[in-house]
Amino acid sequence: MEKVKVGIIGCGVIARLTHGPEYKKLSDRVEIVAACDIIKEKLDSYCDLHEIPKRYTKISDLLADKEIQAVDVCLHNNMHSPVAIEAMRRGKDVYSEKPMAGSYVDAVAMIEASKKYGRKLHVQLAQLYSASSFVAKRLIENGDLGKIYHMRSTGFRRRGRPYVDGYGEKEFVSSKVAGGGALLDMGVYHISQLLYLTGNMKPVRVVGNTYQEIDMDPKRKEISGYDVEELITGMIDFGGGVTMDMIESWAMNLDNLEGSSIIGSKGGVRLSPFSYHFTKHDVVFNATMDETDLNFRSSTVYPEQMFYRSSQGHWAAALRGECELLPTAEIALNTQLIQESLYLSNKLGRQVTTDEVIASSVSKNTEVVGLYE
Ligand SMILES: NC(=O)c1ccc[n+]([C@@H]2O[C@H](COP(=O)([O-])OP(=O)(O)OC[C@H]3O[C@@H](n4cnc5c(N)ncnc54)[C@H](O)[C@@H]3O)[C@@H](O)[C@H]2O)c1
Repeated sequence: MEKVKVGIIGCGVIARLTHGPEYKKLSDRVEIVAACDIIKEKLDSYCDLHEIPKRYTKISDLLADKEIQAVDVCLHNNMHSPVAIEAMRRGKDVYSEKPMAGSYVDAVAMIEASKKYGRKLHVQLAQLYSASSFVAKRLIENGDLGKIYHMRSTGFRRRGRPYVDGYGEKEFVSSKVAGGGALLDMGVYHISQLLYLTGNMKPVRVVGNTYQEIDMDPKRKEISGYDVEELITGMIDFGGGVTMDMIESWAMNLDNLEGSSIIGSKGGVRLSPFSYHFTKHDVVFNATMDETDLNFRSSTVYPEQMFYRSSQGHWAAALRGECELLPTAEIALNTQLIQESLYLSNKLGRQVTTDEVIASSVSKNTEVVGLYE
């Protein structure tokens, strides 16, 4: 089978940290044939690093390249939707970085475009491919957790606000570019993991609160225009007696938080690190798994399991027709609805219904230079 030909759009931090190296691991099956960045120096150093032959400074030129089957959108959040839609309109399958878009309506437009133009749409939700997710999914699908009634989504950094605490670019902490803080940077991974494992239920009612209390370096604050949350808490009601509570921290004065969990009538799992909790013969058990053994046998006895062990590996397999693409766009859309509901609840100071969030959602798309001309 021919290698899948991919084009990278945006040669910044994440293209460098993950997309390039991950495709290198898949080099027998995928080839990065082109890349695009508006900043020529970034483009050149990225292409030199990954030996990418074709270099574009205008997205529209990359999209005109007939050799490219799929594009990776590694741009800032509020550019994901317009670029993904235009790419699908021009016949490319699209892999988008997370969060899916700047707002719920922008994410809906991406799914509609994928249907209209008959293109694949995949969103980067890395936690779906962890060993914990793989094992938890098996337990849930086999009924070992019984009726699931509560989930807890958690993410913890003690002092890890991008840029102002030393890591990452300043765009992460500007609401105009990123749309939000800890929730959009990390929370989307943990919420989407729980949604994936429990059947992507639609949320009905949401309460959220955001916080920004801890001091930061004044110079970096000024340069970045920091105006997003370092901490967010919330409660999500899915109806039918199923709920999720969430806490996501970029910075908090605490030593740790327990990992995300799912609890059911017959058993429960914690996802990070993985543990499985159940009662048998009236004795309570706390079990762990052997990840080394799981990984070894997944790669030897059951190689098709490897299609579900990394986001890019899954994407490559789906593009090559080796497996069905997971509904990551639908999971990301539902996650987007929860995000937007948490923020609206915080803004209004009350519980919101997701129906009112959908009705009030507005586009946050920003202008993307070079997309159409
Ligand atoms: N950095 C991380 O650790 C990380 C982790 C996971 C996900 N992400 C996601 O990846 C996305 C990108 O983040 P990043 O940290 O790589 O940002 P970044 O600023 O490092 O990279 C974005 C790149 O896009 C380029 N760009 C901007 N406008 C363009 C245009 N019109 N045409 C072509 N190129 C253009 C910029 O020059 C820049 O090189 C975000 O959605 C973020 O949420 C980032």
